Amino acid sequence: MSRPSPLARWYAEHGRHDLAWRATRDRWAVLVSEVMLAQTQVPRVLAAWPEFMATFPDVATAADAGPGALIAAWGRLGYPRRARRLWEAAVVVREHGWPDDYTTLPGVGRYTAGALAAQADERADAIGVDVNITRVVQRLAGRTLSTRDSEAAAVAAAPGIAGRDRLLALMDLGATVCRPRDPDCGACPLRRGCATRGALDGEQGRRQAPYRGSMRERRGTVLARLRSEPRGVPARDLDAAALESLTSDGLACVARGRVTLPRA
Ligand code: ADE
Repeated sequence: MSRPSPLARWYAEHGRHDLAWRATRDRWAVLVSEVMLAQTQVPRVLAAWPEFMATFPDVATAADAGPGALIAAWGRLGYPRRARRLWEAAVVVREHGWPDDYTTLPGVGRYTAGALAAQADERADAIGVDVNITRVVQRLAGRTLSTRDSEAAAVAAAPGIAGRDRLLALMDLGATVCRPRDPDCGACPLRRGCATRGALDGEQGRRQAPYRGSMRERRGTVLARLRSEPRGVPARDLDAAALESLTSDGLACVARGRVTLPRA
């Protein structure tokens, strides 16, 4: 055995090994965690994921429960279309089993598919690049990279470490050391090969649009009401534009002037 690489040693010592979803290899549980983490910060997912998994422990339970149940359980995690897509994915898997290509599932993009293969299937060749990993490899390279080039760069940046550990090591490095602002280059196991030492020119952080007063907020207010009144709310009592937006996304349905979460 060769000596572990600096990244592997760093990960063993400093990786976020305690995150609840890292203890499972179950595909459904990993998929739920990745879908939540795609647009919601770790502390809020830590608060929501265990209860969601207790309610929908497997694909069949989720598929049988219907979209409204998943949207209700999504609570205030935001971007609730994710809950509907998760239900749609559960229906596909219940009907056909897990596909070889996870990107064929509703709501599963290239990153999520790679993360699922790396974590649940422990496939040594699997990689995916989320925002954290993309930032790490672009700073290493000193330039912006396409998704495929970022994936290749992630593999190249992590010799001697593969699959699950490679994905999580690079992700944790991005989240805790190679941070968007104020990177801690002195603590970085990859600093010797780094073109920028944490300051790639023109790097763009991902900014969320302001929430206050936004359509996201208005939709959230309507959904909260539908969640708390499962028997339905008169349409005329609700914000009409927000309701229209929710129904067109399949997140609410209107029948005879009453609005509920969708049943199918
Ligand atoms: N562990 C596995 N996937 C993760 C993610 N997307 N964010 C944070 N921790 C993770």
